Amino acid sequence: MTVERPEIGRFAETFEQVGAALDDWLAKERVDALRSPTDWQSQLAGPVPQYGLGADATLQEFIDVVLPNGPHLTSEASWGWITTGPSTVPTAVAAASAIAAPQRQALTAFNMLEELALDWLVELCGLPSGMKGVFSSGGSTANLIALGAARQWALEQRGIDPSGAGLGGLELAVYTSTQAHHTVQRSAGVLGIGRRRVRTIATDKELRLDADALEAAIAADVSQGVVPVAVVAAAGTTNTGAVDPLRRCGEIAKKFGAWFHVDGAYGLPGILDERVAPLYEGLELADSAITDPHKWLNAPTGVAATFVRDRSVLYRAFTQEPADYLEGAFSDDDVQVSFDSMGVPYFDFSVELSSPARGVIVWSILRELGVDGIRARVVQDNDFARHVARRASEHARLELLLDPVLSICVFRYRPGHEMSEAGIDAANREILRRLARETRFIVSSTIVDGTFALRPCFINPRTSLADVDAFVDTVITLGDGLDATLVDDRER
Ligand SMILES: Cc1ncc(COP(=O)(O)O)c(C=O)c1O
Repeated sequence: MTVERPEIGRFAETFEQVGAALDDWLAKERVDALRSPTDWQSQLAGPVPQYGLGADATLQEFIDVVLPNGPHLTSEASWGWITTGPSTVPTAVAAASAIAAPQRQALTAFNMLEELALDWLVELCGLPSGMKGVFSSGGSTANLIALGAARQWALEQRGIDPSGAGLGGLELAVYTSTQAHHTVQRSAGVLGIGRRRVRTIATDKELRLDADALEAAIAADVSQGVVPVAVVAAAGTTNTGAVDPLRRCGEIAKKFGAWFHVDGAYGLPGILDERVAPLYEGLELADSAITDPHKWLNAPTGVAATFVRDRSVLYRAFTQEPADYLEGAFSDDDVQVSFDSMGVPYFDFSVELSSPARGVIVWSILRELGVDGIRARVVQDNDFARHVARRASEHARLELLLDPVLSICVFRYRPGHEMSEAGIDAANREILRRLARETRFIVSSTIVDGTFALRPCFINPRTSLADVDAFVDTVITLGDGLDATLVDDRER
């Protein structure tokens, strides 16, 4: 049987075609995938194709059927959760690197930029100088790696090597606030510490971890023989952007011999805004910290970084066992060409062997914008949150639930007549639903002190003040227009 080998095609025309389609798509008012006039599900479903369509037809199908039916999370009016708002240069660099450097190994510019970009992030985010890091796919993995380091270190203090020998029958615990990202629990589960051994500590009115309660909780555990592995503080919680009292958390961790981890997946770049920089005081006590360039730095999804003071702890926690296909292949002496060395062995510092080169993506962002450019974006995003807060405070039928700290604002619509709390919650749930169904604004929600809140989080560099104002106007219009039977519960 002879089978013709398919053509591969050229990047120049392909990227031009896809780039133009992306620009068109971004310029569109949001089209919800489920409301697509063409039935994309039936167009896309089917058995594995026996014969290929060829490059042109495949790209056209991608452009016509797949692209317009995505979640549109990168549009200028998309502020739900903390997903991403990838800007143009790093996205292009990421795509190009998939070909030029599909691995970060070997003595190449990409391996070097992996390290340089990590060092630049340390400087950018005000982390203790000399901290070293490793890139991974997102905040979930970055927290897992940090807590893997914490577990390694904490048990080594007690003469146990957990990555080699297991947990030695000890009872461990991790401490964080009720507002912490739930990847902390998942990390504890994966690491054998136990999800339910994450002690969630109460917060103050501003939803910052209550340091006194933290101290009491660790003291109580220690008196029962529990090993306090780590205190995890947030530099920007996912719910409201609160920054925990880092200094107190760090001091308490040290007092009890625990590792101090700062989850800055979202909020670490907030330190660039001098209005809030003092909140990060105490960051210098961190034993580890994470930040996700795919959040506030506008990298495409799949870029996070974990930093530790001493990368050898990452090595001890995550190194792979020897493998025949690698042993002896790289001597590192008499290096004459790139492949004489693996370069910095990032594959021994985390859970990934094969991995895209992510440092070059971060490098391109910092090269393009510089610290000042990134600061300008961060400040503007924080301004957007403050603008929503101002409008919510000033409008009779809006209510600000918490002053914004970073670029998240939590607020709600409040009907002009008396209504139960349950009724107001229901009205705001309906507004959220209608925003998603009827408008271009994609926001998410949270619960603030038992109250359902609308929660835009601004990290998208395509957003303008006009978009933000239009969003607030739309919330008011939707709230005012709610069916009286839905919101009027005075007779219930
Ligand atoms: C504070 C915090 N930590 C961790 C994560 C998890 O990050 P990722 O979604 O990149 O895995 C998030 C996600 O929003 C977050 O806000």
